[in-house]
Amino acid sequence: MGERVVPLGESDMEELIELERLCFAYHWTREQFAMGLERGVYKILGVRSQGLLAGYIAFSLIEDEMEILNLAVHPGLRRRGLGQSLLAGAFDICTGKGIAKSFLDVKVSNTAAIDLYRKFGYEQIGVRKRYYPDTKEDALLFRHDFKRD
Ligand SMILES: CC(C)(COP(=O)(O)OP(=O)(O)OC[C@H]1O[C@@H](n2cnc3c(N)ncnc32)[C@H](O)[C@@H]1OP(=O)(O)O)[C@@H](O)C(=O)NCCC(=O)NCCS
Repeated sequence: MGERVVPLGESDMEELIELERLCFAYHWTREQFAMGLERGVYKILGVRSQGLLAGYIAFSLIEDEMEILNLAVHPGLRRRGLGQSLLAGAFDICTGKGIAKSFLDVKVSNTAAIDLYRKFGYEQIGVRKRYYPDTKEDALLFRHDFKRD
């Protein structure tokens, strides 16, 4: 759809918190977002639709590894390719920085996210039993290796 994926900053905090509330029952706190937006502990990219924040991806880059920490699209704007655009934006940054591999964990029941990650070449490498504090669901661990030239 051509929406632009851009890095988010401190001025996006309120919109990000609002979007997070809409997307997750057990959501990140202001302090968790501040670690990314203000202190640069991890990166956050966002995508807007008609001016409003429609989705975000949070990921860390440590040495040659990228970890997806969170990914969410506004419930009213799903299945329009925004999740794919966000993931592609994060991958572009990884490619530019020579990142070798990426990891993530996802709830076993989250078929939407699992389908999306598989499309981007992630493969399951393990399971963490009863990993999530909110639902006590198992986490599936996924890995993706970036191609080297
Ligand atoms: C997962 C999520 C980010 C996907 O965002 P999205 O913008 O709807 O995704 P896209 O439109 O880019 O979809 C890309 C692909 O993902 C898969 N997918 C997305 N939603 C799906 C669904 N409900 N069921 C099955 N597959 C789905 C499909 O393969 C889809 O491609 P297609 O539309 O061509 O079939 C969104 O559903 C979301 O915010 N969920 C709640 C938060 C969450 O669970 N985040 C993940 C935490 S690990």
